[in-house]
Amino acid sequence: MNQNDDSAFIRRFSGIIIGLMVFTGAIIVLALSLRPEPTIDANPSQVRFAEERVAPVAGVREGSDGQAALAAAQAETLAAAAPAEAGALDGSQVYNTVCTACHAAGVAGAPQLGSDLLAQRFAEKGLEGLTNSVINGLNVMPPRGGRPDLTDEQLKAAVEFMLQ
Ligand code: HEC
Repeated sequence: MNQNDDSAFIRRFSGIIIGLMVFTGAIIVLALSLRPEPTIDANPSQVRFAEERVAPVAGVREGSDGQAALAAAQAETLAAAAPAEAGALDGSQVYNTVCTACHAAGVAGAPQLGSDLLAQRFAEKGLEGLTNSVINGLNVMPPRGGRPDLTDEQLKAAVEFMLQ
C-alpha cells in the first residue's frame, strides 16, 4: 500500500459518504413532501361545548347603547317565547292551535265546527255575542279559550273561522 492508494481510497470513501448524505437528504425531502398535512378535525359539538364553557357568564350593558341592546335582546327573547299564532289575525290558525282542543270533539257540549248547535247559537247571539262569550268565557269554556294573550280581534277571527 503506498501513498497513492491511500489518497485514492480517501477520495472514493469521502465520495461515498457525500453521496450517502445527499441520498439521505433527498429521502428526507421526499418524506416531508409525501406527509399529509396534519388536519385538525375539530368535532363541531366539542367546539360548541368548549365555546359554551368559556363563554362569559353575563354581559354588562351600560349607557343608552347598552339599554338599546338590552331591549333588543329582551324583545328577541319574547318573540322566541311567544307562540307563532300570537298576533296572527288568521282565524284558522287561532282556532287550530287553541280552540280545537275542545271544539273539535265537542268537549263538554262545545259546539263543533259547522254544527247545528253553533248555527243556532249564531242565530241567537250574532257574531258579536259569540265573540263576547269567548272573551268572557261561557260555563266550561274559560275566558279567551284559556289564552289571555290573544286579542279580541284574534278571538273574533277564530269565531268567524268557525262560522265559515
Ligand atoms: C276548554 C275547552 C274550550 C276551549 C279551549 C274553547 N272553547 Fe269554546 N266552548 C267550550 C264549551 C264547553 C262551550 C259551550 C258552553 C255552553 O254553551 O255551555 C263553548 C262555546 C263556544 C261558542 C259558543 C258561545 C255561545 O255564546 O254560545 C263559541 C263561539 C266558542 N266556544 C268559540 C271558541 C273559540 C273561538 C275558542 C278559541 C279561542 C274556544 N271556543 C275555545 C269549550 C271551549
